[in-house]
Amino acid sequence: MIVSPSLLSADFANLARDIEMCNASDAAMLHCDVMDGVFVPNISFGFPVIKAISRITTKPLDVHLMIVNPQNYIGAVRDCGAAIMNVHQEACIHLDRTIQAIKAAGMKAAVTLNPSTPVAMLEDVIADLDMVLLMSVNPGFGGQKFIENTYKKVARLKQLISDSGSKALIEVDGGVNLDNAPALAHAGVDVLVAGSAIFAAENPKDVIAKLACI
Ligand code: DX5
Ligand code: ZN
Repeated sequence: MIVSPSLLSADFANLARDIEMCNASDAAMLHCDVMDGVFVPNISFGFPVIKAISRITTKPLDVHLMIVNPQNYIGAVRDCGAAIMNVHQEACIHLDRTIQAIKAAGMKAAVTLNPSTPVAMLEDVIADLDMVLLMSVNPGFGGQKFIENTYKKVARLKQLISDSGSKALIEVDGGVNLDNAPALAHAGVDVLVAGSAIFAAENPKDVIAKLACI
C-alpha cells in the first residue's frame, strides 16, 4: 500500500520534526492540503509553506488543492516542488485543459471527486490521469468520519479504469485508519491518505508502517 500522510494533522509548530518522522518512515509520499475558504469552508496553508516543506522532505509531494480556479496556480504548484497536482473536478470548468496543462508543466495529474460526485464524471478523461482521489469525507477538515459509500465508489472507479485501459491509481482521503484500511485495500485502493490516524497516534511511524504493509 502506498501511504501519503496528510500534513494537515501535523503539529505546525514542529513541522520540521513531523516531516523528518515521515522521511524516516515507510510513507511513499507526503499529502499537502491547500484550502482557500471558498471551495471549502476552511483555510489551511499555501505555497510558501509547501515550498519550505519541499526543502526538507525526501518524499514526493502530493498536493491536494481544495481551491476555486486551480488552473491559475499550475506554475506556482510546480515551482513549490509538487510531484502530483490534485485538482477537484467540481472546481474545473475545463477539466481536460487543466489536466493537459498540469502534465505539460511536468507534474503527474490527479483529479479529486467530492463524496457526492459520481465516478462517471471522469469517463472522458480517465485515460489521461495518473491518479484519481476519492474523498471519503466532505473536504475541509481533518478528523471526520469515513463515509461508507466510498467502497462502492472504489469498485465503480476500478471498473472505469480497467474498461478504459487507464493506468490511474486510486487514492482515498478522509477518515482513513487502521480499522478501515484492510477493506479499502481489498476494494482496490492503491494510495491511502491519513491525517489524524497518523499524527494523533502515540507512534506515528508505526501506524505508517502498519498501513504500508496492508
Ligand atoms: C480533508 C483533507 C484530508 C485530511 C484528512 O479535507 O483533504 O487530507 O487531512 O484527515 P483525516 O485523515 O484526519 O480524515
Ligand atoms: Zn487531502
